[in-house]
Amino acid sequence: TASESGRPLVVLVGPMGSGKSTVGALLAERLGAVYRDTDADIVATEGREIADIFVEDGEDHFRALERAAVRTAVAEHRGVLALGGGAVLDADTRALLAPLPVVYLSMDVEAAVRRVGLGAARPLLAVNPRRQWRELMDARRHLYEEVASAVVATDDRTPEEVAQAVLDAL
Ligand code: S3P
Repeated sequence: TASESGRPLVVLVGPMGSGKSTVGALLAERLGAVYRDTDADIVATEGREIADIFVEDGEDHFRALERAAVRTAVAEHRGVLALGGGAVLDADTRALLAPLPVVYLSMDVEAAVRRVGLGAARPLLAVNPRRQWRELMDARRHLYEEVASAVVATDDRTPEEVAQAVLDAL
C-alpha cells in the first residue's frame, strides 16, 4: 500500500533473545509506527515455522529466504523493523542496511542462556547452549557492530528501558 513505502525508521539487529521483538513493539507504540519483523514475514510467506524450514531445507535455504525478506521489508516498510539474529551474516543485507538507522541490541552470554534457555524453537542452540552461544557471538559480533549506527546493551535493563535507550540513540 502507499503508506507502506519509504524506509524503516529504525532497524533492530542483535542475537536471538536480545529482545528485538519485545523492544520493537514498544518502540512502534512510542513512535506511532508499525512493527514488522522478517522472521514473521518468512513464516507467513512460507506457511511453516522457521525451525521447520531449517530441518526440511537447511540453513542455506533459510538464509536465501531471509535475504529476500530483508530486501523487501527495507524497501517498503516505513516503521520499526526487526531482523532475525543471523541476517547480518549476508553481505548483501549488510550493504542494504548501511544507510539506515540500525541499532544493535547487545547481550552477554549469561543473559543469553537465561533468556533463550535450551532454545527448542531456536535450532542453532539446541545442543550446548553456552558453548554454541559463544561461537555464534564470536562469529557475529563484528558484523552487528559493522552495520550498527548505535549499540544498546540489554543486560539488566527492562524492555521499556531498552526502548528508551534506543530512542535516545536515534
Ligand atoms: C537465527 C535467529 C532467529 C531466526 C532463526 C535463525 C539466527 O531469529 O531467524 O532461528 O541465526 O540467529 P531471532 O533472532 O528473531 O530469534
